[in-house]
Amino acid sequence: MSSDYEYLTLEEILRKTSLLKYIEQNWQPAKKLGSEYKSLCPFHDDKNPSMSINDDKGVYFCYSCKAGGNLITFIKEYKNFSSEEALDEISNFFNLRIKKIKFQNDNNTDKKNMLLKLNSSVAELFHKFLLKKSESRIALDYLQSRGFNLKDIEENQIGFAPNSWDFLTSFVKNNKEKLICLEELGLIKQKEDSKKYFDFFRNRIIFPIKNRQGSILAFAGRTIDNSNPKYLNSKESVIFSKRKALYGIDKFNNFKGKKPKFIFIVEGYTDVLMMNKVGIYNVVASMGTSLTFEHTNEIKKFADKVILNFDSDDAGLEASFKSIEPLFDNKLDVYTLNLPLKQDPCEFIKESGKDEFLKLVKNSSSIIDYFIDYSKEQYLNKEKSINSIIEDFSDKISNVGDVFNKDLMINKFISAFGISKNELQNKMITKNEKDINNEDKNNKSLDALEMALKILLENKQLRDNDIINELKGLSKNLELELLDLISNNNSFEPSDIINIANNEVSSYITEIIFSNTQIDSNEKKKIKLLNDCLIKCKLDDYKEKRRRINMKLNQKENINESTEMELLKELKKIIEEEKKLKS
Ligand code: UTP
Ligand code: MN
Repeated sequence: MSSDYEYLTLEEILRKTSLLKYIEQNWQPAKKLGSEYKSLCPFHDDKNPSMSINDDKGVYFCYSCKAGGNLITFIKEYKNFSSEEALDEISNFFNLRIKKIKFQNDNNTDKKNMLLKLNSSVAELFHKFLLKKSESRIALDYLQSRGFNLKDIEENQIGFAPNSWDFLTSFVKNNKEKLICLEELGLIKQKEDSKKYFDFFRNRIIFPIKNRQGSILAFAGRTIDNSNPKYLNSKESVIFSKRKALYGIDKFNNFKGKKPKFIFIVEGYTDVLMMNKVGIYNVVASMGTSLTFEHTNEIKKFADKVILNFDSDDAGLEASFKSIEPLFDNKLDVYTLNLPLKQDPCEFIKESGKDEFLKLVKNSSSIIDYFIDYSKEQYLNKEKSINSIIEDFSDKISNVGDVFNKDLMINKFISAFGISKNELQNKMITKNEKDINNEDKNNKSLDALEMALKILLENKQLRDNDIINELKGLSKNLELELLDLISNNNSFEPSDIINIANNEVSSYITEIIFSNTQIDSNEKKKIKLLNDCLIKCKLDDYKEKRRRINMKLNQKENINESTEMELLKELKKIIEEEKKLKS
């Protein structure tokens, strides 16, 4: 008899399965609409069906919360599964023998409890080791130098993983079941060749990551010898999802029924610990990932306002801006606090104390003011186009419910960029409108670049390197990432590209695929359209260049005569180029 297991590639798996069938039988029936299907979205509180499913292409996309991907990403998100478990699920559901299934007939709740229990005993083990063993002296000294004493270490169950390859494997004494669990939790890994297990955390200070109830979901390990990366996380598992976990949320018990005025959101573990130490418990850290809708939804249960206190560098600023949308989507007021001297809260409080910190908190200001200033700078430095700034801004404020507040933000924006309210509003389709007119309006209308991307995604034969390279020169961020993926994987279908793309890019891919912008199926017309899109992108680029120069010319007090002459020369050149393209 041939082998029990058929080895299929991810692409083959996606061809042999039906996303629609899975969704209909595991979530709920979908309604046919043209060549696509619509269903309620399981990833947010959906009132009208906002999730589109295209079964031929094997992809889904939600117009409200922007969740999107293929069968594998659906199962991972919907069931909170790892990729491996998603494959198990697929092989069960579609009767494909993809690979050996680990926890056969295992009850999920039992398994979760087992993993939580194991995490708890591992935490205790690391903690005892930190306190009792002479090998941990350096770690203890380090923590003390950072301002944390024995009481802080006890209260937070901080531990130390020794510099050993088999500390945990010998702890479970080669018990097979426990070894598999430890691996599932990302605490041990298997060598590729010998299949021997080894410890994941070595020579690191260990911080347990807890849920609201105080159960340990995962661990973070900080280096003490400057090895990279500075922090490692144990991997995602059935009990740990980075898009949901908030470090420090177990301390919310300290509110004792009194609702805090706001919640601080900080970057790091040590920031939370230091704030807790001085009696500030309304603080969480998102642990190195951007804030998600799930994070902010959880925060909203405890307060109506947040103060972002990220590191005061570019990365920290970008992280704050990225957080605006999920925070506004949950109707939270968003303020930001930048500490002097680029200090993070941990450093600042250790040096200047709680009172100085709280004084600065009083001066924190609205995140939108920061965003507008920063965008203006980016625009003048040509890092971003006016269209993408407007799109960004309108995305960010689209769910601000308070009309007065929203108007205030809009007025600030238009006066900063010297555009009219009409011009701005023409480009803004609020998400709420999209939700109400679900049938036709919820589709993203594609701009020229996105239209080109759609053609390239859906037509392998049209992926011409010259065109792709020209488009790359006119793209940034997600668009550029997507173009890279397309040109590096010339033969991939859209759903295959989703397999190798990160979350943001795969959501973007599905959004483009599902847009109802019609593209003629005639091959020649498609080629012409692609070329027209490229020309349109170039023209848009010139138009922006002109606008930028004009903005600079208008700031007369900041430029001298020779710069003015140069700008005018540049302007003339651009106008000539534009003429050529149009003719
Ligand atoms: P920082 O580098 O600011 O760390 O990263 P920190 O918290 O101030 O670290 P200490 O005080 O030197 O120990 C902020 C956060 O980003 C995540 C961690 O959650 C960290 O707390 N991070 C950082 C990682 O996940 N991995 C890294 O390698 C670095
Ligand atoms: Mn920091």
